Amino acid sequence: MRELLDKILQEGTVLEEDVLKVDSFLTHQVDPELMSLIGKEFASRYQDKGITKVVTIESSGIAPAVFIGLELGIPVIFARKQKSLTMNAELLTAEVYSFTKQVTNNISISTKFLTEKDNVLVVDDFLANGQAALGLVELCRQAGASVEAINIVIEKSFQSGRALLEEKGYRVDSLARVKSLKNNQVSFIED
Ligand code: G4P
Repeated sequence: MRELLDKILQEGTVLEEDVLKVDSFLTHQVDPELMSLIGKEFASRYQDKGITKVVTIESSGIAPAVFIGLELGIPVIFARKQKSLTMNAELLTAEVYSFTKQVTNNISISTKFLTEKDNVLVVDDFLANGQAALGLVELCRQAGASVEAINIVIEKSFQSGRALLEEKGYRVDSLARVKSLKNNQVSFIED
């Protein structure tokens, strides 16, 4: 998506050769106009697929996910990384290990929001090693829901996430595919 690639080129900064900082529009401050375009773009791709829920993970997945849900007219569920005080219903849970942060989170969604009747779009802001996305599809599996596709805002194509998810049979659909962050330069795989 051209507008997203331009925004990354204008405002993204490279940290340590493999981390892209995009906190001015996605991971800290959020650009609602760009999120709205992202919502429209993904919704146009999945309009006729019978999607019933958007599933993401807190925190930076929520903004794009909400705009996709708005466009498709369906609810958005975000998996929590910590159990909420009010989460006393039965939970779907999965472990997500972050190679970047070297921590394991137990992510969860209440069983009442996801069932075998659902056809899901999984959404996240970044795809790096694919562990967050794998955790989310595991929650869908536990609910008996089907996963139509995994929608990613920024994919780091030089990391292993896409291959891992495709190997397991999932469709990965990313709006920006970053080929390299070497020499502080962002380059993309252009479709
Ligand atoms: P994975 O889920 O694909 O395996 O990714 P990984 O464990 O490596 O990523 C851990 C966290 O770091 C995730 O956020 C992910 O979105 C974020 N992340 C990964 N690569 C980048 C990057 O190049 N730039 C930025 N800005 N973030 C990156 P999280 O822990 O779930 O946190 P948050 O969504 O609450 O911010």
